Amino acid sequence: MIELTKTGIDGLDEILNGGIVKNSTTLVSGNPGAGKSILCLQFIYNGVEQFDEKGIYLTFEEDEEDLREAAESIGFDKWGEYVDNGDIKVYDKKVLLRENDFSSSLELLLDDFEDNDYDRVVLDSLAMFELFFENEQEKRTYLLKFTDILSENDLTTLMTNEQGAVFPETEIGLENYLTDGNIYLIQTPTESGVNRYVWVAKMRKQDIETDIFPMEISQGGIRVHQNASAFSMMSEDDNPL
Ligand SMILES: Nc1ncnc2c1ncn2[C@@H]1O[C@H](COP(=O)(O)OP(=O)(O)O)[C@@H](O)[C@H]1O
Ligand SMILES: [Mg+2]
Repeated sequence: MIELTKTGIDGLDEILNGGIVKNSTTLVSGNPGAGKSILCLQFIYNGVEQFDEKGIYLTFEEDEEDLREAAESIGFDKWGEYVDNGDIKVYDKKVLLRENDFSSSLELLLDDFEDNDYDRVVLDSLAMFELFFENEQEKRTYLLKFTDILSENDLTTLMTNEQGAVFPETEIGLENYLTDGNIYLIQTPTESGVNRYVWVAKMRKQDIETDIFPMEISQGGIRVHQNASAFSMMSEDDNPL
């Protein structure tokens, strides 16, 4: 029996066939502005709010104050309160980049990872692996080590990745092979704004809906609509890239 961790995001758990596989690492990929950080904030916030699961949010993108403002502006009103009471632990770029190598940063996090208090982790974004490592080999080794540590400590993790939807002719980054799942967020410009879609391309051990579903970002966060879209990744007109 596979245990699942619910994202609590309307519509997403349904297409995941119940949720994300517990103790796995899932990539959340997409272009800038696609909604990766919001999805991650919502995953951690809902964990506390709906499932009594504490979370750790690692961000190389923002400092703690910006993150709080972003969370509260989209309607995660108690984000600050949860950070203050310890239900959500934030390591921001100021803290994480103080260390100048990966092992020291990891050292900083290990106590929390090994502490049974937490169930959910977000790493926003994987670009940190680019920062710390000089070559692909080293990056691959440490990414594997990192995902092992997370899984051994019963942590269910989302990592963001600045990468559009994959086409056969584009190079597929190794991070796609080293993680258990891959959720793509896709946005296409329209005359009046943007159309947003979510595509769960992979979830190891889970029978998922592989169609592309429309979603929206509004007050309260991301909502995924259940009607599979007529969207085709291969159509010239609709090409999201
Ligand atoms: N309160 C809001 N209402 C509607 N859309 C929002 C709101 N806040 C953010 N967004 C949308 O979400 C996008 C940013 O999502 P974000 O998660 O930061 O993207 P990413 O991390 O993938 O770069 C913004 O470009 C904006 O369009
Ligand atoms: Mg982001």
